[in-house]
Amino acid sequence: MSIVPLKIGSLCVDPVIAAPMAGVTDPPMRKMIRKFGNQMIFSEMILAASLVHAHRQTRKMAVCEKIDRPIGVQIEGTNPDVMAQAARIIEESGRAALIDINMGCPVPKIVKSGGGAALMNDPALAEKIVKAMVESVSLPVTVKCRLGWDESSLNYLDFAKRMQDAGAKAVTLHARTRSQFYAGKADPDAFEKLKKTLCVPVIANGDVRCADEAQKIFDQCGVDAVMIGRGLLGKPWVLAECCAGLEKNDFQKPNDLCQVVLDHFKEMENYYGHKAIFVARKHIAWYSSGIKGGSDFRVKVNQITDVDELSLLIKTFFGEAV
Ligand SMILES: Cc1cc2nc3c(=O)[nH]c(=O)nc-3n(C[C@H](O)[C@H](O)[C@H](O)COP(=O)(O)O)c2cc1C
Repeated sequence: MSIVPLKIGSLCVDPVIAAPMAGVTDPPMRKMIRKFGNQMIFSEMILAASLVHAHRQTRKMAVCEKIDRPIGVQIEGTNPDVMAQAARIIEESGRAALIDINMGCPVPKIVKSGGGAALMNDPALAEKIVKAMVESVSLPVTVKCRLGWDESSLNYLDFAKRMQDAGAKAVTLHARTRSQFYAGKADPDAFEKLKKTLCVPVIANGDVRCADEAQKIFDQCGVDAVMIGRGLLGKPWVLAECCAGLEKNDFQKPNDLCQVVLDHFKEMENYYGHKAIFVARKHIAWYSSGIKGGSDFRVKVNQITDVDELSLLIKTFFGEAV
């Protein structure tokens, strides 16, 4: 069996995609995912206003290496002009395959300013943002949203249709409400309903972690792609594994987890310098999850401030764990 690629404009990619995850899908993580396959990855959410006002760290986030493709760059904001300017900056950088708008972030700091999932409560503004961006760039503009704000306002069908009519070239649905944050189960029926409502591709997101779960969503809902978020934590090979599973091909999981962790730490060092010690902590925690002695190991990891010491500890723990 062969999988049907996801097509958005001239983009044609495997229908299994890495979710945008702030603090996770940074350049080092993207490099790790790409060691295993060439699937589409979404960047971390980038604040449009910071990008436009040339905030140094934000500009760095928006720069993607030549080999870091295919990539969708996601932006967040509420001002249509600023969002359009940010989209132009990203397009001019020449690396993005599409620009995605975050209309699903549940974090209080973001929704208080009217952004992320709060845009689902203001479809007219969301529409203006899409239109302003579509008018100012030639790259496809896409939207990622949720079911709605809460159980009593499940407006995703009408909302996504409006975004499509405003010019969005694909919609990713994280099938939870804002009130749910990441709790409870994503609602797969919503994917099927959305697919029947839209003409543009629908990307299903929420609780997909493996090929069997992805296959179920494809079969039941007829969506164009699935997006994996938390399933990638500590498992950067999951997209490749999932594609192989959908194709009924064998997939060889990396047999040297220690080397994977060391490689990832090296990528973080190259990108963040000494700060890598702190950024690495959460990734190392995910890699060590479920391994005997993991909690003692994580306590030690969180105390270390020296790069060589951390490398040695990784070698000892994961070397012995194999
Ligand atoms: C640590 C973390 C950071 C996230 N950051 C973003 C983000 O920047 N933009 C976004 O649209 N969603 C973000 N999300 C949500 C994911 O993209 C995804 O919608 C959610 O995790 C559900 O998918 P999953 O069940 O496969 O994890 C984040 C999720 C996590 C766990």
